[in-house]
Amino acid sequence: MAAAAVAPDAVDVIRPETYAAGGYPHEGWARLRREDPLHRCEIPGFDPFWAVTKHADVVAVSKRPDRFVNAPRMMMMGNAVRPTAADLADPNRPRLRMLLNMDNPDHRRYRKLAFGWFTPRSVRRLEARIGAIADGLVDDLAERGRTGTCDFVTEVAGRLPLKVIAEILGMPEEDEDRVLQLSNQGIGAQDPEFQVAGQSARESRRAALVSLFAYFSKLVEDRRASPRDDLASVLANARLGGEPLPMVELLSYFGLIAVAGHETTRNATSGGLAAFLDHPDQWRRLREDPSLVAGAAEEIVRWTSPVIQFTRTATQDFELRDRRLRAGELLVLFYPSANRDEEVFGDPEAFRIDRKPNPHLAFGIGEHFCMGANLARLELRVMFDRLARRLARVEPAGPREWLASSFVGGIKHLPIRYELA
Ligand code: HEM
Repeated sequence: MAAAAVAPDAVDVIRPETYAAGGYPHEGWARLRREDPLHRCEIPGFDPFWAVTKHADVVAVSKRPDRFVNAPRMMMMGNAVRPTAADLADPNRPRLRMLLNMDNPDHRRYRKLAFGWFTPRSVRRLEARIGAIADGLVDDLAERGRTGTCDFVTEVAGRLPLKVIAEILGMPEEDEDRVLQLSNQGIGAQDPEFQVAGQSARESRRAALVSLFAYFSKLVEDRRASPRDDLASVLANARLGGEPLPMVELLSYFGLIAVAGHETTRNATSGGLAAFLDHPDQWRRLREDPSLVAGAAEEIVRWTSPVIQFTRTATQDFELRDRRLRAGELLVLFYPSANRDEEVFGDPEAFRIDRKPNPHLAFGIGEHFCMGANLARLELRVMFDRLARRLARVEPAGPREWLASSFVGGIKHLPIRYELA
C-alpha cells in the first residue's frame, strides 16, 4: 500500500460542525482528489473510513454491489448520534430497514413496490399540479406586495417538494408541518436549531423516528381499512411472498419516501437560488431564455449535491487505486466531490446552466440510483421556470445559514429581497 499523502485526520469532510460553519468543504475535497483520492480518514468521534472522492471511484464502487454492500450501514454518522449498546439491546428501539440499507434479493423486491410511481411517465402526469403549487407559492409572496423579503428556504423552497410528496403518499395537508418538523429533527439532529430542547442529538433523532413511525402506523391502519389511490395504500396493502410487509420495513419505507422526497429537493432549490445570487450572469441568461431551464436544473443538482454521502461496506479484500481495502471496511462516497472532479468536468468550480455534458452523480449510480430523480428534476424545472418568469429582481437580504449535517446538507435559511414582475 502506498504511503498516505495526507495524514488521516488532516482533512475533515465529515464533522457536521464543519458544514454548519462554512457550507460544503470543497477545498478539503479538492485537496483529497489531488493528493490522496482514496483517503483513510481517522477523525475523532467517527469510525475510521475510506473517503472516496473521485468520480470514477464512486462509479466503480456503486457498480459492484457484489463487492460493496449497503447493509448494515447506509451513511457515516458520528458516535454522538449512533445508537449505543443499550439502544441496540432495546427491543422498542425504532429500526430502519429500507432500500438504502438493503441488498439483493430484498432490495430488488422492495424497490419494485414503489418504482412505478416515479417513472418519467407517472411523474409527467404531475406536471400541471406541480406548476399550480409553484405558482401558488409566488402568489403568496405577491399577496404581501410587489416587493418584500422572505426566508426563501422555509417560505418557498421547502413548501413545494413537501406538498408534492405528501400528495403522492397520501398525507393530509394539515399534517405537512408536523412531518416537516419531525423530518428536520431527524436529519438535523446535530443542528441545535432542530434538536429538542434538553435532548442530546441521539435522543432527538430517536424521538423523531418514534413519532414519525407512530404517525405512519396510523396511516397504514387507515389505508388497510379503506384503500385509496395513493402510495400509502399500495405499500400498506403490498405483499411479498404472499405476506404483508413486516412493520419495520413498511414504516421505514414510508419514512424513506417522506424524508427523501423533500429534504433533498428543498436543499437543491435553495442552493440553486443561492447559486444564481452568486452568479447573476447565469440568472440573466435563464430569465432571457427560460428554455434553458432543464440544463439549469441539472447544473443545480450537480452544484448543490444535496446528498453528501452514503456508505458501502467491503465484503472482501479489494484493490482500488493503489490501496488494498479489507473486508468489513467502510467506504464513504462523497457525491459533491465526485461532482467537482477536474478529470470529468471542465471548469468544475463554475456554475454554468448550459453545461453539457453533465454526468454528475448527485443521484448516485447503479442499483440504488435515486428512485425520485425524475420527480426531483421536474420539480426543479417547474420551480425555476416560475421563479425566472415571475421574479424581476432578487438579492440577498442577510447571511445564509448552513445546516449542521454531513449527510443531507444545504442552506437552512436564505433571506432574500425580491421584486415581482
Ligand atoms: C435533488 C434531489 C435528490 C437527490 C440529490 C437525491 C439523491 C439520492 C442519492 C444519492 C441516492 C442514493 C443513490 C445510490 O446509492 O447510488 C438516492 C436514493 C433514493 N432516493 Fe433520492 N434524491 C433526491 C430526490 C428524491 C426524491 C424527490 C425522492 C422521492 C421519493 C427520492 C427517493 C429516493 C429513494 C426511494 C432512494 C433509494 C433508492 C434505492 O436505494 O434503491 N429522492 N437519492
